[in-house]
Amino acid sequence: MNILLLGGGGREHTFAWKFSNDPGCTRLFIAPGNAGTAECGTNIDLGVNDFPAIKEFCLKNDIHMLVVGPEEPLVRGIVDFFKNDPELNGVAVIGPSAAGAQLEGSKAFAKKFMERHDIPTARYREVSNLEDGVAFLKSLQAPYVLKADGLAAGKGVLILDDLAEASAALETMLAGQFGEASRRVVIEEFLSGIEYSVFVLTDGQHYKILPEAKDYKRIGEGDTGLNTGGMGAVSPVPFVTPELWEKTETRVIKPTVAGLAAEKIDYLGFIFFGLINVNGDPYVIEYNCRMGDPETEVVFPRLKNHLVDLFQQTLNGQLASVHVDTEPEVAATVMLTAGGYPEQYRKGDRMVLPQPLPGSLFLHAGTKIAGGQLVTNGGRVLAITSFGKTIDEAVGKSLAAAETVKFEGKYFRRDIGKDL
Ligand code: AMP
Ligand code: GLY
Repeated sequence: MNILLLGGGGREHTFAWKFSNDPGCTRLFIAPGNAGTAECGTNIDLGVNDFPAIKEFCLKNDIHMLVVGPEEPLVRGIVDFFKNDPELNGVAVIGPSAAGAQLEGSKAFAKKFMERHDIPTARYREVSNLEDGVAFLKSLQAPYVLKADGLAAGKGVLILDDLAEASAALETMLAGQFGEASRRVVIEEFLSGIEYSVFVLTDGQHYKILPEAKDYKRIGEGDTGLNTGGMGAVSPVPFVTPELWEKTETRVIKPTVAGLAAEKIDYLGFIFFGLINVNGDPYVIEYNCRMGDPETEVVFPRLKNHLVDLFQQTLNGQLASVHVDTEPEVAATVMLTAGGYPEQYRKGDRMVLPQPLPGSLFLHAGTKIAGGQLVTNGGRVLAITSFGKTIDEAVGKSLAAAETVKFEGKYFRRDIGKDL
């Protein structure tokens, strides 16, 4: 099977690494990819949202399967684009339809969906004018959670400590701080607890649960400072006990998959549940319509199944008969970022990596080859994943490996997993 993978971050290098060890994958192309994916297949200089160019590439290169990493092409309807074009009949697509991707593409849609299916989530109101919003804010306790309705590259959630600040922030959002994405805002009650991420693969009727993970979103140690795309992750998550798993599956996962089916929303692919444990009960913080980054960097290394086989069973509606086989050891990943990230940062700094280290995987995020030289090419540069019998052992190996990587401005958190 010839595969085209869309995306170019650490998540996509992890997909590409899995495919490169997969007997079901004959040729692998990655668009646009990075310096890491180039070692697993062939990088193609195509934009992930350029559907006509992706179509042409698939037809010319006899692609059988299109695997979509990031959310934006899904929300923009790449799955529908492929389904509705008879010339593309021969290309199976792993990802939800635009209607399904609304779970991530519109916070208001996701909240209403959860309301319809009685899925636990924070109390909320969807507002498009300041007066309604301030009235609702007054009914809540601090801190206040404001979410741009649409996609905002992970930056659209603001948490504010007092009412005046929250009202001012709401005004700025509604005035277009995040463009069209924040003309509608979801205001939520603040939930206190510890977060975890759960992933399922679904064929629209059945689902299989993949290993869970916890990611670390803030730039600073001790979970301080600005939000980032993710500074590290571990899997499994010790506080996700069998009891919490059971509640997560019955109260959240089952009604979500059943709700999509009942509403006849086409959904084939990954659902990422961003969850919070509030006194032993799971609540949904957000849905994503794709795998997480950097969660994939710990979830996939623990997954023993081949992806091509899993995807074929998904496409055939045969997921029910699949056994998900998981490595019991702990996987931890530490993200190395460019100085200044998540604010302004430089690109193009030369990088030096050590020889391959046994037990650690170097998963490229923002890297590329320029003039024959490996250089930084993004805020999140490199994820280093290691296995261990304990979280400490796995994180310790990744930290030791992180010390050996050289590039100007390198930064990473040394406290990944320390709170578990
Ligand atoms: P989201 O993009 O929806 O995942 O939100 C980003 C981050 O904001 C989450 O990972 C949480 O840490 C935090 N957050 C979002 N919604 C809430 C909420 N209702 N209560 C507490 N924290 C929240
Ligand atoms: N790590 C969170 C995300 O992928 O959105």
